[in-house]
Amino acid sequence: RHDATPFLPGRRAGLPGLRKAAAGCRGCPLYREATQTVFGEGDTDARVLLLGEQPGDQEDRQGRPFVGPAGRVLRRALADAGIDPQHVYVTNAVKHFKFTVPEGRKRRIHKAPTLREMTACRPWLGAELRVVAPEVVVALGGTAGKALLGSGFRVTEQRGALLPWPGLGVDGDGGGTGAAEEGISALVATIHPSAVLRADDADRAKVYDGLVADLRLVADVLA
Ligand code: URA
Repeated sequence: RHDATPFLPGRRAGLPGLRKAAAGCRGCPLYREATQTVFGEGDTDARVLLLGEQPGDQEDRQGRPFVGPAGRVLRRALADAGIDPQHVYVTNAVKHFKFTVPEGRKRRIHKAPTLREMTACRPWLGAELRVVAPEVVVALGGTAGKALLGSGFRVTEQRGALLPWPGLGVDGDGGGTGAAEEGISALVATIHPSAVLRADDADRAKVYDGLVADLRLVADVLA
């Protein structure tokens, strides 16, 4: 199988065991160019799991998700929405940085992962869902939404609403995520926090407020 399944540890593995196993994942070719696997992290008892796209440049270097500029926006937006950033779990649909280096340049430019790469990486997300067992999953941006809902997902149309949990359809560690997935009451999609950073000066506050408004819906579900 060309996915992460052969690299998963037994179903009793906790997050440290998963992280260790994921460090050696070769379930798709992205490990070759990336510095390291960037596994999810945060509160293991979190009621909210936030799903990003893939690690960025900083995350690839440091080996931790959302430690760069987008992460700072995300933590501020969570706090403004009334969600304690210390009490969430953050991870990515794809756990290796995918990038290109344009001719004659040094900087690594992020490249969107393919559906195939997201599918190959999905068993890790299944295992994270089993361990964390969140009540709400938040898809940050179009790529995370596609990873969960398929290629027809459109963030502009589906953001800011309570969507039914679609189910991952992975056999996780061979035993299914089962009960963990049944505990998920909703999926909420919103924009990726990097969209706030990319917005024109004139639009930035409005884009940020939209992110916060969507996250308030998550806070309401948890209340
Ligand atoms: N963007 C993401 O989607 N994930 C990260 O971890 C960092 C930036």
